[in-house]
Amino acid sequence: MDKIVIALDGPSGAGKSSLAKQISKRLGIVYLDTGALYRTVGLYAKKMSADPHDEKAVEPLLGTLDIDVLIEDGVQQVYLNGECVGDAIRTPEMSMYASAVSALPSVRAFLLETQRGFARRSSVIMDGRDIGSVVLPDADVKIYLTASDEVRAMRRTKELLAKGQNVTFEEVLSDMKKRDHADSTRAVAPAIKPEDAVTLDNSELDEEGTVKRALEIIEEKTGRGSGQ
Ligand code: DC
Repeated sequence: MDKIVIALDGPSGAGKSSLAKQISKRLGIVYLDTGALYRTVGLYAKKMSADPHDEKAVEPLLGTLDIDVLIEDGVQQVYLNGECVGDAIRTPEMSMYASAVSALPSVRAFLLETQRGFARRSSVIMDGRDIGSVVLPDADVKIYLTASDEVRAMRRTKELLAKGQNVTFEEVLSDMKKRDHADSTRAVAPAIKPEDAVTLDNSELDEEGTVKRALEIIEEKTGRGSGQ
């Protein structure tokens, strides 16, 4: 079986991780959620009381930061200096911290090799904001997954409420717009649609419809479908 490398980019709440999990399962390939790496750096900045926007405060911390990614029972776990971060990186506060540290050149350089190493070792679907444009410019398939602001915010609200977090749709929509703006206007590796990516707008598709369309795109580009 040939190696296959899939880059999945798109704004927050478009459903990248749900799609990537399904594709990983159906094609039997590894899934790397790169947002979790930025969230982990954000968590470390918070633990060390560093301003996540300040390169001078964050860069020196990277020397004492060790991030490991293990796939345990098919689920990605991130270890920060030997300790599993679990759901501590999945709060609205950590979304903002992740977005802030992700604009720092030293943080992006620090995480680049970890991400590329995955694609060298195995077939992978990797999701993030700059996967097709910077991390894996030679990926076999590039998908840009998106949906309207309202649909994305509604999905994220439901997800957070299900986790017991006390949020409203309006707060989530406003945070999401701020974060999308910051991510797409930063100087280094801004979140963009790679030129050679296929856009998949799932505003009007359910999860299964999104997976079906993504598998069609993968098959069109590589000749490889879920039955192969
Ligand atoms: O996908 P996510 O919401 O977990 O990502 C958290 C933040 O990390 C997001 O606001 C932007 C940043 N990020 C990035 O800059 N590049 C990536 N490849 C993945 C995430």
